[in-house]
Amino acid sequence: MANLPIIQPDNPILRKRARKVTSFDAKFQTLIDDMLETLEKAPGVGLAAPQVAVPLRVFIARLPDDEEGKKEFGDNAGVLYVFANPEFVKTSKEMVEGIEGCLSIPGWVGTVERHEQVVIRGQDRFGKPIKIKAKGWLARVFQHEADHLDGRLYIDIAKEVWQPTEEDEEETALADQAKAE
Ligand code: CO
Repeated sequence: MANLPIIQPDNPILRKRARKVTSFDAKFQTLIDDMLETLEKAPGVGLAAPQVAVPLRVFIARLPDDEEGKKEFGDNAGVLYVFANPEFVKTSKEMVEGIEGCLSIPGWVGTVERHEQVVIRGQDRFGKPIKIKAKGWLARVFQHEADHLDGRLYIDIAKEVWQPTEEDEEETALADQAKAE
């Protein structure tokens, strides 16, 4: 396994429509393992192949399963999702705003409106068909990652983007602490 470099918007691969995954061979398995290691070492919840300069339609996602994560995400905390050739078969009319960041745009966050619920269909790392209904944060992560496969970044659709200061981060930490108490 290898920790892969994560590319930034100056690399055109991040802006291209990625190709369909057609072969779930050993090379593809290595890519998934490398993406898993890369995500594990990065401060993120999702990673799409174009972010590691591989223009294929696959992403991985995993919500944190620490104490806070378990409380927030319940059964979805810590579950590893691998989606090749994902497609949304249903999206809720209801939209929700949330603050997103991206491993390809370090130091920035933005407010993005997403569908509150989605049904997503695709294939797992071995090519087996999968279909999942997701809501809230998980649905948000799936939409963010699927956008990467079409060369779209959250900054393209964000209402507002900003660079959080250390003070903002302290405030978030305090808010989290208050929630935990
Ligand atoms: Co991203």
